[in-house]
Amino acid sequence: MNSIVSIFDLDKDEILGLLRNASYFEAHPNHKILDGKVIATLFFEPSTRTRLSFETAVNRLGGRVIGFSDPAATSTSKGETLKDTIKMVSNYVDLIIMRHYLEGAARFASEVTDVPVINAGDGAHQHPSQTMLDLYSIYKTQGRLDDITVTMVGDLKYGRTVHSLLQALAHFRVRFNFIACDELRMPEEFRNFCDTHGIPYTESTDFSTDIIDATDILYMTRVQRERFADLDEYERVKDLYTLRADMLSGARPNLRILHPLPRVNEISQDVDDCPQAYYFQQARNGLYARQAMICKCLGINVEELKNNTTASVSMSKN
Ligand code: CP
Repeated sequence: MNSIVSIFDLDKDEILGLLRNASYFEAHPNHKILDGKVIATLFFEPSTRTRLSFETAVNRLGGRVIGFSDPAATSTSKGETLKDTIKMVSNYVDLIIMRHYLEGAARFASEVTDVPVINAGDGAHQHPSQTMLDLYSIYKTQGRLDDITVTMVGDLKYGRTVHSLLQALAHFRVRFNFIACDELRMPEEFRNFCDTHGIPYTESTDFSTDIIDATDILYMTRVQRERFADLDEYERVKDLYTLRADMLSGARPNLRILHPLPRVNEISQDVDDCPQAYYFQQARNGLYARQAMICKCLGINVEELKNNTTASVSMSKN
């Protein structure tokens, strides 16, 4: 099965291969290699970027998309189980891309179907396609994935994007700074993961310019209202960390600011015009990273595609 449910479903060579293929698709986004393929996007939770970029990826590769973005308009609202929904959709499509509010839902789906599944986010657990576009963005802006300092700020407890990214970067030489209030601290599981893998990290509740000045990638995150059982706690912590343009005056020239988006108050609008702001380009990179992932899950040989592209480019030059 070619499912990608967790970043652990990919080894280092597969991650590097996907990054190379993302780079190829950035240069050549339009191909008809999914002609005849139907892909389902099943979104049980809201999304703008992930769903639309996956659907754009399929469209640009010549495939067709079915699916839903509002489970209330499906038979889920009549009580149909996730298992039955997945088995039904599997009758119609070649690949399922799904987002669900329950941790483990994508893994469960992958176990009840013969169709490959891409996890587009399951609760506070994993978001591997976001991780691939984050890695691609880091590689594009830094020219490497080794020897970088990554500072993660905000909701480090519930943030599935920071958890997946941390685990993927374990393949490379990185240092982390974790900045969060006590309530949203990086969970023990991930601090233990760093210890086990010899990954150096610091923790702080203070978002100081000293830390920003020693950072290559500043990864801001939204405090996710939808993950809080206690909304009073959300109100207490939601606006503790906001990046402003004046905090970047001593930043390294190569610093880039990433954010999986959507943002609420954690990056002020004046940062958008700073050269370090990269979050909108980061979202664009998602299209190419997802094209590469779709091809991998469908067993499409992108190397062959590259060779054919090179051959047709050189023929047209002649
Ligand atoms: N980054 C991300 O997952 O955005 P959406 O929730 O809009 O898909």
